[in-house]
Amino acid sequence: MPSLTNVTRLLVAFFYRPRVIYEFPIAVLDNGRKSLGPLPEGYEYRVATEADCAVIASLLSSDPGFGTWTAERVKVELFDRLIDPRAATIMLFKGTPVGCGFVTDASTRRRRIAYGMYLYLMPAHRGKKSVTNCCVFRTFAPAVDLNYDLALGESDLSRLSVLLLHLSNGCVPVKNSLYSYIQWFQIERRLGPTLTALAKRQTRKAIAE
Ligand SMILES: CC(C)(COP(=O)(O)OP(=O)(O)OC[C@H]1O[C@@H](n2cnc3c(N)ncnc32)[C@H](O)[C@@H]1OP(=O)(O)O)[C@@H](O)C(=O)NCCC(=O)NCCS
Repeated sequence: MPSLTNVTRLLVAFFYRPRVIYEFPIAVLDNGRKSLGPLPEGYEYRVATEADCAVIASLLSSDPGFGTWTAERVKVELFDRLIDPRAATIMLFKGTPVGCGFVTDASTRRRRIAYGMYLYLMPAHRGKKSVTNCCVFRTFAPAVDLNYDLALGESDLSRLSVLLLHLSNGCVPVKNSLYSYIQWFQIERRLGPTLTALAKRQTRKAIAE
């Protein structure tokens, strides 16, 4: 028989989850990796390895909301859970690490689920679509190759930049609790005009090409 604690947990999860979840449709991931353009001068992408744990810890610790990271924490929470050794990315600018991204395994008994984690770019290197998209789509590429059923990510409501990035790239909101309907309504209200403007810009660009 389920304990009172478990029932309470289930009920709370039904009504309220603190973070929003979004889905990357597999076709979007496949198309995204195929459409990646060249990186701007000075930028270089490579697969991250455990030898990079210390440098990744220092990148992640520089974001105030990510908490404190050590090389050991990077290994245990990220590298030990990757869907594939290629699912860890490091972005370099003139040889110096400036960003990273990871895709970990969150599979259940029924479904193979890839989970995007800790996408990060140093502030000076943001706003460059090809750099950001390279971090996203190269890191998720193994999920496509390995036929994962589902690819997800999650974020705090306050991280509007990452939500804008993913929604403009074709991510789909996951409405998995009553509260998530309110959260996504708030996000769509705040980002709706920017998303519409971005879509119009993309259409104009596609027509011009
Ligand atoms: C998530 C992240 C990698 C996205 O990087 P990015 O898309 O390259 O860069 P930005 O965040 O600067 O946003 C890019 C563009 O969106 C715009 N934008 C961002 N947030 C916006 C908002 N709330 N409303 C309107 N426009 C917004 C920016 O002005 C910028 O436009 P521009 O290039 O025309 O100036 C980066 O913001 C980051 O590392 N953030 C900290 C870590 C983080 O939140 N990670 C996600 C964990 S879930």
